[in-house]
Amino acid sequence: MQRPSHIDRLAALRDTRARQGLLRRLRTVEAADGAYVWIDGKRLLNFASNDYLGLAQHPALREALVAGAARWGVGATAAHLLGGHRDEHAALEESLARWTGRERALLFSDGWMANLGVVAALLEADDVCVQDKLNHASLIDAARLAGCELKRYPHGDVDGARRQLESRPEAAVLLASDGVFSMDGDVAPIRALASACADEQALLMIDDAHGLGVLGPEGAGSIAEADLTQDEVPILMATLGKALGVAGAFVAGSAALIDGLVQQARTYIYTTAMPPALAAAARKAVDVARFEGWRRDRLAQLIAHFRAGAAMRGLSLSASRTPIQPIVIGTSEAALAASAKLEEAGFYVPAIRPPTVAEGKARLRIALTALHSESDVERLLAALATALA
Ligand SMILES: Cc1ncc(COP(=O)(O)O)c(C=O)c1O
Repeated sequence: MQRPSHIDRLAALRDTRARQGLLRRLRTVEAADGAYVWIDGKRLLNFASNDYLGLAQHPALREALVAGAARWGVGATAAHLLGGHRDEHAALEESLARWTGRERALLFSDGWMANLGVVAALLEADDVCVQDKLNHASLIDAARLAGCELKRYPHGDVDGARRQLESRPEAAVLLASDGVFSMDGDVAPIRALASACADEQALLMIDDAHGLGVLGPEGAGSIAEADLTQDEVPILMATLGKALGVAGAFVAGSAALIDGLVQQARTYIYTTAMPPALAAAARKAVDVARFEGWRRDRLAQLIAHFRAGAAMRGLSLSASRTPIQPIVIGTSEAALAASAKLEEAGFYVPAIRPPTVAEGKARLRIALTALHSESDVERLLAALATALA
């Protein structure tokens, strides 16, 4: 008897993907400067970055990182609970809690680990996790790995969410939704979801990876924009690697929630704390994101400019008011071809294909940042009109 070979299986899966035009391709960026990246020796205007506020290269963040490294060295050397938790981490947690209007915040290595840590800590086998169909893979997989029952509802459909909540009235239930959907850019109906959760005694969790820094007063995110309190949305998860330009993630909520996570969230407990210098850079990023409001104003202008210009050129837009402005193309082949034409013209706009998005909904995911200028957007629009003609 011969056992199946894992490696052969991987190779077969890879071949299938290749035949379907779904092969993923790793590109190496050789340099980055402002809104530009260099790939294969070519300078490309980058429309694929989640650094929405343009903070990843901000001088104040660089200085905070260097000063943090001078004080702490590079690694945190241990898990938070075993000596890795430095005052830099504590200060960042306080700053994040203050910004988002929550009692406490808890740092995780990244958004994946934060989502998995929370969902697995809160949900047991007989419990239910209700999720939007277009939620990020990390939330969907978190529910699967938690071993609870996962019930999905059509995208943005609050009545559908209510029906799923009502279907198991005896069970403990968590409803989790992206705040801003990562591949579509639209904002979840958070107020209506909060009210459904209140009626059904369900716990609401919002993953605001793409809303924090971008939406709401002082960029405090989609929950702040919806003017909802910690009681109405008890669990906020957001990453530090997108609009804040750093890396890592946090969960914010009541002291009882955070205390519980410290005891139970395995992805918090059994991992090395983020480097303290990164925490220092992230704390500076919070200040810049909060108080340099012109970055959000610039984004708003660019978004308006892009949408008006796209409409004028007959490009089909999605219903998004955020920096994520996808153009749905349809087949993977057509999306790849459009992306390649844009690259020839000097723009980096990767094609997003199934299974990241639904079959037939391959797209160009255009991400605007405060590093772009109106003339950058104008040039992209002209190139899009040619590439999609
Ligand atoms: C909505 C959403 N949640 C979570 C994550 C994961 O965050 P991280 O990159 O910090 O792992 C991402 C993207 O990376 C995301 O888009």
